[in-house]
Amino acid sequence: MNRGSPSVTVLGLGAMGGALTAALLAGGQPTTVWNRTAARADAFVEQGAARGATPADAISASDVVITCLFDYASVDEVLRSAAGMLGGRTVVNVTNGAPAQARNTGAWVSAEGAEYVDGGIMAVPPMIGQEDAFILYSGSHAGFERAKSALTTLARPVFLGADPGLASLYDFALLSAMYGMFAGAHHAVELLASEGIGAEPFTTELLKPWLEAMMVALPPDPASDDSNAAMQIVALENMLAASREQAIDDELLGHLKASLHVLRRAA
Ligand SMILES: NC(=O)c1ccc[n+]([C@@H]2O[C@H](COP(=O)([O-])OP(=O)(O)OC[C@H]3O[C@@H](n4cnc5c(N)ncnc54)[C@H](OP(=O)(O)O)[C@@H]3O)[C@@H](O)[C@H]2O)c1
Repeated sequence: MNRGSPSVTVLGLGAMGGALTAALLAGGQPTTVWNRTAARADAFVEQGAARGATPADAISASDVVITCLFDYASVDEVLRSAAGMLGGRTVVNVTNGAPAQARNTGAWVSAEGAEYVDGGIMAVPPMIGQEDAFILYSGSHAGFERAKSALTTLARPVFLGADPGLASLYDFALLSAMYGMFAGAHHAVELLASEGIGAEPFTTELLKPWLEAMMVALPPDPASDDSNAAMQIVALENMLAASREQAIDDELLGHLKASLHVLRRAA
């Protein structure tokens, strides 16, 4: 096998697997593809990918096997259908799942004699191959190094350590912050809408610059006197009251208040 530029197989050509494959092909990477619904591979074969008739057939073509499927049940089903074929290869599984699922699948892949690398994609499909995208990886460092030149064509690779569960843990940490921010932004827009004010130009001119400026306050410091927890709890209570007066669901802010009480106790 050529360690300098590994051949790559992609199992799963959904929205994300398709974007990964397109980036590999654009980077001139020798790529083999397989998808449960075979017709989804046609466009990639036209662009130069080889087609695997089955997962085992596709796996046999490459040093590095990327799985990008619906969930871990589908990953396990697809990989187990090729039991005995993985030895000596590197499996990079970028399917979303919990740390324990990554560790379980990693243990099975390792027992098959392959290197296992788990991945968390911090991007949506149009970002793949673009500057802002990064992908978290953990598991076999040797496998990561072997796959790295191919992985670099997808997004900036960030290796977190030998525990295959780490990529998932960090992925969920980042997603938690993102969904919290989205929920807060949704609440903000609802609050203004209750007085007939539109989302724009509020979002572009005030909300985004405000959120960017507030990054200076991360991570939260319970001991800081600049914005102490007691003061913030009063402000949150005022916000809750204002939201209720405008008939806006205050569930999100209610949870934030509880977390501020935790911070206050820690201070
Ligand atoms: N899209 C995003 O924005 C995004 C961002 C970050 C991470 N991800 C992660 O990337 C992974 C794939 O997401 P996606 O957006 O590509 O999903 P998707 O468009 O729904 O594609 C799902 C893929 O899984 C295949 N599949 C489903 N069940 C299967 C089974 N039992 N056996 C074999 N193949 C099966 C589908 O095959 P068929 O074509 O035959 O249905 C398809 O290739 C997920 O873990 C997701 O969390 C996605």
